Amino acid sequence: MELKPGLSAFVTGGASGIGRALSLALAGKGVFVTVVDLSEEKGKEVAALVEKENAKFYSNLGFPSATFIRCDVANTRDTAAAFEKHVATYGGLDICINSAGIGNSIPFHEDQTDGTRSWRFTVDVNLVAVIDCTQKAIGIMQAAKKPGVIINMGSSAGLYPLYTDPIYSASKGGVVLFTRSLTPYKSKGIRINVLCPEFVETELALKAGSKLIDLMGGFVPMDTVVKGAFELITDESKAGSCLWITNRRGMEYWPTSEEEAKYSVRSSGSMKRFSS
Ligand SMILES: NC(=O)c1ccc[n+]([C@@H]2O[C@H](COP(=O)([O-])OP(=O)(O)OC[C@H]3O[C@@H](n4cnc5c(N)ncnc54)[C@H](O)[C@@H]3O)[C@@H](O)[C@H]2O)c1
Repeated sequence: MELKPGLSAFVTGGASGIGRALSLALAGKGVFVTVVDLSEEKGKEVAALVEKENAKFYSNLGFPSATFIRCDVANTRDTAAAFEKHVATYGGLDICINSAGIGNSIPFHEDQTDGTRSWRFTVDVNLVAVIDCTQKAIGIMQAAKKPGVIINMGSSAGLYPLYTDPIYSASKGGVVLFTRSLTPYKSKGIRINVLCPEFVETELALKAGSKLIDLMGGFVPMDTVVKGAFELITDESKAGSCLWITNRRGMEYWPTSEEEAKYSVRSSGSMKRFSS
């Protein structure tokens, strides 16, 4: 999909960090953006910046080129209303970026609660809401019979373990394999991909502690994350693709073709994939 004026994007977690950077980068291409987040103050600020950027492309649109919607992505009724508002404002949905995410609030080994406010909620926000928003975005894109791209924010912690936050790792591992299993939607013109950076300098990553980040070779620059996301949007061959980004090695697709060959099997002309 060529990034060009007139397209529209729905970005969860758009008020801060990676979601914010992607919202502004899309605005730089003239894309209309709905910023969906819990944080009203920061979300409105991002929407205002998107409008300012979009003003270079449009005059007298008759509708706002950016919209902020306060919404908890873990609340399915709220996300349904947010998608509805997006479609009512922009007449469709070309790009959906599911970036809202959190770390687990109580270390798993110390957690004596039933998890409602800790690990269950982390899984609800990081995995269940991503599944829910992906399904809603697919529904809108299919109904419009137009191409669409969905990017889910995974993490390197969804590819290999993050010992300090097993719940975060579990939720991101779910996002990675959920997204990779959606490759067949490509035949319907909908490409769904997952982005897996190591540490990026945001409010979320600053909680991780500098020792671990130094061990990983420092923060991945935000520009590289944006470059990766734009590659997943614009490269028509990417569907169910998982882009791993580290400061040590750069951008690589996961798994490699050698790893993929270990579990891929062919059945009567069509390739079916199984892994144990
Ligand atoms: N920063 C990193 O090192 C890193 C690395 C890999 C993946 N990620 C992933 O990237 C995504 C963005 O993270 P970030 O680093 O930009 O963090 P961030 O904290 O800067 O931004 C996350 C945004 O999500 C919003 N949010 C959180 N819970 C929400 C909810 N229930 N409903 C709506 N909005 C909610 C927050 O208000 C915030 O604006 C997350 O999914 C995160 O797991 C981050």
